[in-house]
Amino acid sequence: MYRTHTCGELRLEDAGKSVCLSGWVQKVRKLGAMTFVDLRDRYGITQLVVGENAPEEVKNSVAKLGREFVIQAKGTVIERASKNNKILTGDIEIDVNEVNVLSESEVPPFTIEDQTDGGDEIRMKYRYLDLRRPCVRKNLELRHRMAQLVRNYLSERNFIEVETPVLIKSTPEGARDFVVPSRMNRGQFYALPQSPQTFKQLLMVSGFDRYFQIVKCFRDEDLRADRQPEFTQIDCEMSFVEQEDVQEIFEGMIRHLFKEIRGVDIPKLEKMTWIDAMEQYGCDKPDLRFGMKIVELTDVAKGKNFAVFDSADYIGAICAPKCAGYTRKQLDELTEFVKRSQIGAKGLVYVKYNEDGTMKSSVDKFYTEADLKVWAERCQAEPGDLLLILVGPKFKTLPQLCELRLEMGNRLGLRDKNVFKPLWVVDFPLLEWDEETQRFYAMHHPFTAPKTEDIPLMDTDPGKVRANAYDMVINGVEVGGGSIRIHDSALQAKMFDCLGFTPEAAQAQFGFLIGAFKYGAPPHGGLAFGFDRLASMFAGLDSIRDVIAFPKNNSGRDVMIDSPSEIAQEQLDELGIELRKDIEK
Ligand code: AMO
Repeated sequence: MYRTHTCGELRLEDAGKSVCLSGWVQKVRKLGAMTFVDLRDRYGITQLVVGENAPEEVKNSVAKLGREFVIQAKGTVIERASKNNKILTGDIEIDVNEVNVLSESEVPPFTIEDQTDGGDEIRMKYRYLDLRRPCVRKNLELRHRMAQLVRNYLSERNFIEVETPVLIKSTPEGARDFVVPSRMNRGQFYALPQSPQTFKQLLMVSGFDRYFQIVKCFRDEDLRADRQPEFTQIDCEMSFVEQEDVQEIFEGMIRHLFKEIRGVDIPKLEKMTWIDAMEQYGCDKPDLRFGMKIVELTDVAKGKNFAVFDSADYIGAICAPKCAGYTRKQLDELTEFVKRSQIGAKGLVYVKYNEDGTMKSSVDKFYTEADLKVWAERCQAEPGDLLLILVGPKFKTLPQLCELRLEMGNRLGLRDKNVFKPLWVVDFPLLEWDEETQRFYAMHHPFTAPKTEDIPLMDTDPGKVRANAYDMVINGVEVGGGSIRIHDSALQAKMFDCLGFTPEAAQAQFGFLIGAFKYGAPPHGGLAFGFDRLASMFAGLDSIRDVIAFPKNNSGRDVMIDSPSEIAQEQLDELGIELRKDIEK
C-alpha cells in the first residue's frame, strides 16, 4: 500500500496514528539535528520531521532528497510544537521512521509554488510541472466542478448528452477550418468542427428534443486572451421553443453556477438590443459594471467652423467622472491610446468641466464656453468631469469609444473582478455586408432565423433584417450565443439566396440538412457557451489559457509537445500530399 492518507488529510485528532504518506518533496529544511520535509500532493502539504533519534537509514535517505523527489514516508502523527495556521494540516507533523524514494527528480526548471520564479514560456514548456502548482491545479478543479454542475443541471431537465463527430465536412462560412487529409479518400479532406451546429439541429429532426454536449470545437483564427484554436463549448439545442424558453433555461443554468461556485445571487437578466448596445457602449458585448455610456454630440457640435467636426458622420463622447484634473501627460497618454493601430482613431478631443464651473477644451478656438456647456449638459456631466470625444464614421467611431470607455474603466478601477453583470444582447442584424467580397454574410450562422416581422425585408432591404438571435454577455465578455433556427425549407432557401449561394451551391454544402428538413423538422433553437471563458471568469482570471490543462500559445503552438510539426515523407506520400517547395517554414 503506497499510502494510508493523503497529504491534505491529517489533523490533530489523528495524533498517535501510524500513517503512510506518498507525494512530492516540496522543500527540505535542516534545523540543527532535525530535518523537516514538506510533502505535497494534490490534496495539500504535510510536514515530515526526522528527529535526532530517527533510524540512521532514514537520516541518510532524507539527506539525499531533492525538490520534487517522489517519496513514501511512514511514521506517527504528532502535535507540532510551532503550528502553521496557513495550512489545514498545520497542527500536526509526521515523526518519520521509514522513507522510501519512489522516484528521483532533476532540479525542476522553476519552483513549484504559487509564487513561482518561472516565466510564461518555460512554464508552458514544462506544463506538467506547472500543473503541480496549487493555483493552477485549483483552476482545473473549478472547471471540473462547473462541468459537473452543468451536466447535473441539464440532465435534471431532460437534456441528454450526445457525442457528435469530430471528422466532418469543411464549410466556407464562419472562421477558417482546420482540415485533416483522408488516406482512404486521397485528395479529400475532413474538417474539424467549428461547432456541432448542424449535427445538433439534425438531432432535433431525429426527435431528441433536448440535447447538450460539453464539446471541443476548432477554429483556425487569430488568437487572443479569450480565444484558443481548440476550445470547449457547452453546446445545447431544444425543440418546440421560442427565444424566451431557451433564455429561461440557460439563464437559470448560469444563475445556478454563480450561486454554487461564487455564492452570488444573480437577478433576472436585462435584455438590450444590439443597436442600443452599439450606440451606448460601442460594442455588442457591453461591460455593465460601470456607466460612462456613450453620448452622441453630432447635432450639437456641428456648425461652428471646426472642419473636423463639421465634416464628421458621427461625433460621440464619454464623460469620465472626476477626471477634469487630468494633466497634459495623462491626456497625451489617452490620445496615444486611441491612436494605436488596434484602435485607429485620428485624435482625441477633450473638454474639462472644471470644479469652479469653467470649461477648458482642446477646441477652445472654435467653441465658446456656452457651446461646451451644451455638450456637458447632453452628457449629464458634473463640475470636475472630463469629456472625451471621438469623431468619424459612426460604426468605426463607436468601437473606438468602446475601447476608450473600457480603458477609463480600468484606470478608474471600475471593473471589479468580483462584480458580475450579465445580460442578453438581442436583435442582432441577420446579415453583415462585406465590402471586399461584395456580399452578405450571416452574422451568426446561415441557420439563424430572422425575426418573423422582418421576413418581408429579406426581399427589399436584407441589411435591415433582425435575427432571432441572442448572446449572453458578462462583464464585457461574450460567454455564449445562440438563436432560434430556420426550420422551414423555403425560408432556408431564401436565406441561402440572401447569402449569395446558388441553389446548387447550397445543396452541395448543406444538402444533408436541407434534405433532413424535408422529413418533419420541429421548430427549434439553442445556444452554446464558451466553457473556457465561463471558467476563467469564475476563477477571476484574464486568460482562458489558465483554465485549460494543455493550452496553445499565441502562435497556436503547443510548445510542450512541439506541435504543429512536420510529418514524415512516407506519411505525406500515403496521403497523396506534395508540399510546395516555395512555402516558407
Ligand atoms: P459562437 O460562434 O458564438 O456560436 O460560439 C459560442 C461561444 O463559444 C465561445 N468561443 C470561443 N471560446 C474560446 N476560443 C474561441 N476561439 C472561441 N470562439 C467562440 C464564445 C462564444 O459565445 N453554434 C453556435 C452556437 C449556437 O448557435 O447554438 C456557435 O458556435 O464564448
